[in-house]
Amino acid sequence: MKKSPKAYLKIQIYLHWIVVALIIFQFILHGEISLLFQYRMEGLIPNVPSASPHAIVGTIMLILIFWRLWLRFKHGVPSIPKSNRFLAKLGAKHMHILLYALLIATSFFGMLAWVFGLQLASLMHIITVYALLATIYLHIFAGLLHHFVLKTNVLKRIFGMK
Ligand code: HEM
Ligand code: HEM
Repeated sequence: MKKSPKAYLKIQIYLHWIVVALIIFQFILHGEISLLFQYRMEGLIPNVPSASPHAIVGTIMLILIFWRLWLRFKHGVPSIPKSNRFLAKLGAKHMHILLYALLIATSFFGMLAWVFGLQLASLMHIITVYALLATIYLHIFAGLLHHFVLKTNVLKRIFGMK
């Protein structure tokens, strides 16, 4: 594994932004699956999964997340700016691990709920979804802080700029 390449691979950058788009889709379009799940729990329809767009997009997103993790392991990610080592190490590394963990946990609980019709898994899905949302806000705030206050190039490099 290469520890600190100079820049992200193009594919890492594309995957970052494709996953962002899919997550926005997941947050906006969950009405249908929430209603279907409620009907299943109330016994209004058979308690079996169907091909809901939310479930399909969530599963595709999970595959892309594993692809990203594999690229991270094979290629590595650019190192933390030197001028800002302590703060960035504390923040960025743990924040990224937390983001990956929450993305996997959210999808995993969503799948468990949908495939097996489990109420507890749906509760866990909702809890992890909102923990993910809070972490995403922090992540965006950190990106903007880096760019406008700490004046590092981390925001530029996730857009593929120098
Ligand atoms: C990171 C990916 C995902 C995000 C961001 C996401 C987001 C959401 C959101 C915001 C809700 C509505 C929560 C609420 O009622 O307040 C929801 C509900 C739901 N999602 Fe996901 N989801 C993701 C992945 C998945 C996957 C992969 C599946 C299944 C294959 C899934 C199945 C469900 C189900 C069954 C519900 C209804 C739960 C209920 O109303 O009790 N989700 N999701
Ligand atoms: C759904 C929302 C988002 C998720 C889940 C997410 C997730 C991640 C993850 C896991 C990384 C680690 C790098 C990797 O392994 O590829 C990363 C990097 C990064 N993200 Fe996001 N991201 C999101 C949205 C955004 C947005 C809107 C911005 C813009 C402010 C942004 C800015 C960055 C930056 C600047 C890095 C690079 C940090 C560095 O080079 O050390 N992200 N993101």
